[in-house]
Amino acid sequence: MSLVKLIDFREIADTRGALVALEGGNEIPFEIRRVYYLYQLSNSFHRGFHAHRKLEQVAVCLSGSCSFLLDDGLNRQTLKLASPAQGLRIEPMVWHEMFDFSSDCVLMVIASEHYDESDYIRDYEQFVKEAANA
Ligand code: TYD
Repeated sequence: MSLVKLIDFREIADTRGALVALEGGNEIPFEIRRVYYLYQLSNSFHRGFHAHRKLEQVAVCLSGSCSFLLDDGLNRQTLKLASPAQGLRIEPMVWHEMFDFSSDCVLMVIASEHYDESDYIRDYEQFVKEAANA
């Protein structure tokens, strides 16, 4: 089973440009409770290094590109996001890291819950333990 679950958004494009609309429960497979975005990213650092116990997320690279590493405790996959018309699902209990940010990268993340630090697993060994028991 692939860890990489991409959603292709419908692009409404004409000679004026392109538009993508994202609705909770439609293009985004959960009700949206939070949106955050990362920008002015340094290419020298990786970010993320955590998994969530319950949170559902969809990441969209609105500008530029970046890479993701996804890990479910057994398998690892990497991919590059480089289109504002494509979303990457980050499901619960998937360890994720982001890296290789282009200088113009704007990474938006749509989330199913408000920020809750208790939902994070930030220790990889702890993640592998919890993933094995899930
Ligand atoms: P962090 O988890 O380190 O970001 P990343 O996963 O991209 O490496 O978050 C950086 C800081 O931002 C940390 O202090 C928590 C805070 N934060 C919020 O307050 N609200 C949020 O929705 C998010 C995602 C982070």
